[in-house]
This record gives sequence, C-alpha cells and structure tokens, in this order.
Amino acid sequence: MERCPFENELILVSNRGPISYTRGEDGELKTVRGGGGLVTALLGVAASCEITWIASAMTPEDTEISIRAGGGSTKVTHDEHRLGLRFVVSDPEVYNKFYNIIANPLIWFIQHYLWDLSVVPDIRHNEFEAWENGYQVVNREFADAVCDELDARGNERPVVMLHDYHLYTCPSLVRERHPEAFLHQFVHIPWPQSDSWRVLPRHIRQAIVRGLLANDIVAFHTQRYVRNFLVSCEELIGAEVEVDFAHSVVIVAGRKVWARAYPISIDCADFERLAESESVLEEERYIEALRREYLVLRVDRMDLSKNIVRGFKAFDMFLDAHPEFKQRITFLALLQPSRGDVKEYNIYREQIMREVEVINTKHGTTNWMPIDVRMQDNFMRSVAAYKQFDVLMVNAIYDGMNLIAKEAGLINRHDGVLILSENTGAHEELGEYCLSVNPFDLESQAEAIYQALVMEQDEKSHRAGMIRDTVKHNDIQKWIETQFVDIKAKISEKTQAG
Ligand code: G6P
Repeated sequence: MERCPFENELILVSNRGPISYTRGEDGELKTVRGGGGLVTALLGVAASCEITWIASAMTPEDTEISIRAGGGSTKVTHDEHRLGLRFVVSDPEVYNKFYNIIANPLIWFIQHYLWDLSVVPDIRHNEFEAWENGYQVVNREFADAVCDELDARGNERPVVMLHDYHLYTCPSLVRERHPEAFLHQFVHIPWPQSDSWRVLPRHIRQAIVRGLLANDIVAFHTQRYVRNFLVSCEELIGAEVEVDFAHSVVIVAGRKVWARAYPISIDCADFERLAESESVLEEERYIEALRREYLVLRVDRMDLSKNIVRGFKAFDMFLDAHPEFKQRITFLALLQPSRGDVKEYNIYREQIMREVEVINTKHGTTNWMPIDVRMQDNFMRSVAAYKQFDVLMVNAIYDGMNLIAKEAGLINRHDGVLILSENTGAHEELGEYCLSVNPFDLESQAEAIYQALVMEQDEKSHRAGMIRDTVKHNDIQKWIETQFVDIKAKISEKTQAG
C-alpha cells in the first residue's frame, strides 16, 4: 500500500460514518461498524495516515458522544485503527428533509433514472423548502465542521475527501472560507446524462454542479460517468466554465478541476478470510439445507434501482420456457431493508411481495417454492450464499458500481455464472466474462438464466476464473493508491500555479 502521501492528516467526510454508537442491554455504549465497502477501504488508510472522519450522528448515542466532545472530534479505536471521529448533529426535522425528501428520493432517483417523468416528481413548496431548510442546512453544518477542523490545523494542509450525493453543496461553502483547501469528492453512484438534471429547478441543479466544482478532484467509478459529468458542466453552467474534454478538466474561476474515474473494489484478502470464518460456515449449512440442485441468487439492498421485480418476472418466463427445471431450482433473494421512511421504497417492497406471490402460486407445489425471499440484514448469510450460487442475478437498472458482483465473484465455489446488467459500473471491468443483459429486456434475462444453467463446465470455470482474477487485480488497494497518486500530482500542480 502506498504510504500516505500527505504530510498531514486526511479528513474524510460522509453522511454515514465508519462507526455508530448504541447502548447495550447492560447500559454500556458500544460501537457498530458502518456498513459497506467504503468504510473497510477507508479504515484501511488509517493504518498509514492520520484520519479524522466527519459524519452525521445517526443515533441518540452518537449525539451523546458529540456532546461529550463539545461538538468537536474525539479519538476512537476501531478494528485496531485509531482515528478522530466527529459527529455532525442535525435537528431531526432538518435531517428528515435532507435525507428523506432531497437526497433520497429526489437526487438518488435522478442519478439512477428512476422517475417516471410523465407523472412524477412534482416539485412544490415542500421540495423547495426541503432543499433550503434541509439539504442546504445539513451541507452547511458539514461545511462548518470541516472548516472548524481546518481552522484547528492552522498552516497545516490536510486533504479533505468528501463522499457522495448527500454533500454536493458542502465543498463550495468550505472553499469560500478556505480558498487554499484541498478538496476531493467521490460520487459513488452513477452520474447521469445532463438532461436528467433538468428535473430540478435551475438554481438547485446549478448549485449542485457548482458545489462539485469547488473540489480539486471530482471522482467517479467509470469513464462513462466522467464524460456525463463533463457534459453536464458545459450544459448546465456553460457560461461559467471551460471544459477540456481531452484532459477531463473543467476550468472554473481560474481553478482547474480534474474529473477522474477510479472503480471501487473490495479488500480481497479480508473477504476471503471472512468467507472461511465460523459464522459464514454456519450460514453455509443453512443455505445447503434450503437449496436444491441449482441455486439462483440475488443479494441486494431493497432499492428500486436494483430491478428486483423484473428479475422475478424473468425467472417466471424462464420456468414457463423450461419446465424441466421445476422442483430442481430455487431463486433465493436476500434483500436488505432500506430507507423505510421514503414512501416509494415501501410501495416497491409491496410490489416485490405481490410479484413473488403470483409466481410462487403459479409454479410452486406443496413441497417446492420457486422464489424464496428473505427480507433481512444478515451479511454472513449473504456471504455464505455467495459461495453457493450457480447463477448470480445482478440486473440493476443503473448502479454506480455494484460490489455484490465483485464480492460474490471472488469467493464463489461453484463456478457460478454472473448475469450482469450493462448499466452497472462493474460491467466496465467484468462485462467480458459475465452474461451481459439489458435490465429492461426480460427475454434476455430469462434466456441468460437458461444459458447459465446449461453452460459447459469448461466455459463456466474459465469465466469464473477471469472474474476472480480481475477482482483480485483491481482490488481496493489499487482504488486507494491511484487516488493518492493523483492527489499528490494535483497538489503539486496547485503549488506550481502558486
Ligand atoms: C448505496 C450507495 C452509496 C450510498 C449509500 C447510502 O450503498 O452505493 O453510494 O452512500 O447507498 O446508503 P444509506 O443507507 O446511507 O442511505
């Protein structure tokens, strides 16, 4: 791993932090690790860099920790990593507007092309108000926290790395007060084509682009998102910027902003160790007991972008076309509940259950249920199922990367076949070795299930091997190191420019 290239600290900023606090039954405070690969990746950096992580207080206990720290940061040790942790405490009403009205669904839906524009969204007082008194307020609170940390370090120059769509306007607020700051922001979800942003009133979409351009580097998972971003800058605030497509640079107010692609990945060694842990082995026995001859698997956060209903419809069509597989196959769907305060997610959950009921009633028998849905958050069970699948269905409508494809591809023991949507970030790396599908084309998904099941053993093992090698080659260290190299180069460009 590249040593931390900065003399000083790294300040990480994200809505969901690496650690959250709860109180155990004994009344003692205990920590819960934030989910997702990002936390693993960035906590790994703590081994070589001083880190302070700024994140939203998600629980009353997080707020308690923040109050104890006088609103500032406090040193914590987690997974043997020592880091500074600072919680941003927002008023619950304000946070609700920020998270449940603007970030999810409004921005999330735009970036994943989920709105059915003939009927939704309506932008009314409620949305304008939530932008001003929710999203902007939380972004300001984050900017205050970042500036506070920068002020405390005086002439030292930490690198600030912000993450994701919750914090689009934060960088401009930091830049106003700290013109010299080094700001880097990673957008972990797709960056859509520029017209998609026109769902938002002009001042809102422009504030988003201007906010991002207050960074020194804006990072995405794929070149496709970088291109879309460059075009968006030109289309949405063209008079203020000059876009150099050849070098992926946007010049704004005399500053050069780099747009770059770094495909995120997983910590392979860590994940392989986890796959052999006792808790995963125990869950594997559970999966073995429920599976039949063939296991089709999907593992997803229960999100509209994941295209869960169409995946089941395709399975229904597959069973119609190939009844010889009845009784011999199970489609196991491990769905992690998500964003339950957003109405669209609740409606989607009901649609999923309705579809499953229809298909299970149509094809099922007293002793065979074609689709087995588990709505739960059981990571060890998911990892166990990764090892066991014959077919993995990743048919997302749009997905920034999709780490399930990488995690499951790395540790599967059955030479399982990956069915992968061409609209996932992972498709740029794994497209050659998967069965590539258009997420709207049910015929091709049904056919892909069949092709995966009848594929020759040699071909399956070749494809699975190539997926494993690709994931290992581009693992999380590479993701971090390439960003560090660019940050170093950008710092020196800025220094030379004076
Ligand atoms: C997905 C996206 C991330 C995003 C996260 C937020 O995992 O890929 O980019 O930050 O959702 O999830 P949350 O549970 O915090 O709403």
